[in-house]
Amino acid sequence: MIDPNRRPENMERITTAELADKFIAEQVELVRQQVGDKKVLLALSGGVDSSVVAALLIKAIGKQLVCVHVNHGLMRKNESEGVIEMFQNGLDANLIYVDATDHFLNLLAGVADPERKRKIIGKEFITVFAEEARKLEDITFLAQGTIYPDILESINAAEGKKAVKSHHNVGGLPEDLQFELVEPLKLLYKDEVRVVGEALGLPHSMVYRQPFPGPGLGVRCLGAITRDRLEALREADAILREEFDKNGLAEKVWQYFIAVPDIKSVGVKDESRYEGWPAIIRAVNTKDAMSATIEEIPYEILHHITHRITHEVPGINRVLLDLTPKPIGTIEWE
Ligand code: XMP
Repeated sequence: MIDPNRRPENMERITTAELADKFIAEQVELVRQQVGDKKVLLALSGGVDSSVVAALLIKAIGKQLVCVHVNHGLMRKNESEGVIEMFQNGLDANLIYVDATDHFLNLLAGVADPERKRKIIGKEFITVFAEEARKLEDITFLAQGTIYPDILESINAAEGKKAVKSHHNVGGLPEDLQFELVEPLKLLYKDEVRVVGEALGLPHSMVYRQPFPGPGLGVRCLGAITRDRLEALREADAILREEFDKNGLAEKVWQYFIAVPDIKSVGVKDESRYEGWPAIIRAVNTKDAMSATIEEIPYEILHHITHRITHEVPGINRVLLDLTPKPIGTIEWE
């Protein structure tokens, strides 16, 4: 019997626009068959995966797709604004914006364990969607930007291999939830998702935007999240992204971000003791997120980024560079 969660051995890798068009045509048909005239709710984070799902479903079912963008307070700087601009104004999507910042940050207060943080964020996402669905009354399906590496990690966990981490877009649905899942990308690797996105007409900058994990800055503000450290992380991350863009590194590096641990060191500023957190730069290259190598960043640029972060971001007094490949480190710190 064919397992819908296993990529068939003979499935061709989607590397060209033609193969992507074929995949899109098949999925449009499958989605229409699955959904009929019912409505589908989509968790639109604005990352590549959920954006490609949105574009695919808009093509398949138009306004039957209801996109919900939940701002869990763990988005990067200006990210929610960008999602609204792109999808509401650009693609005329049916988009609901939910600002749940206080709700998430209150629930996460004092929670230091990475898996508990992931589970809380994932579970609350589902709860928030369910609330939106109840308000809308006639939602039957939940679409998700699950991709094959997520499925593989879940399969490994189910087969008793130690799960690396629980990705928040796989499983975890409460038993009473009435949604059926629509996951058109679940057999694709990341590089294939991008090819499909471009074939759907999404802008290059969007399709090749670096991925952002579902739990967002929550798994980069290490340990128990506090609002001040989260804000420092968000500002430092924005500087890193700005400098990577300016220096042509955004095209060369697959994923780059800042993590801020719950550690303070002693520094000196204006001739006074200045305690602060370190900002850790992580910049990796990978094809499919299953393994990753370190990208060399010119020292001149690192010095400039260090200067900007330590001078512009309150609370950060050091900048560190993470040189660890995957394996042994995962890409994210939590
Ligand atoms: P790790 O840290 O497992 O990350 O090496 C591999 C890739 O997956 C992203 N990531 C996630 N993506 N939901 C997602 O959709 C998640 O919960 C999640 N956790 C990690 C990570 O950013 C990297 O690109």
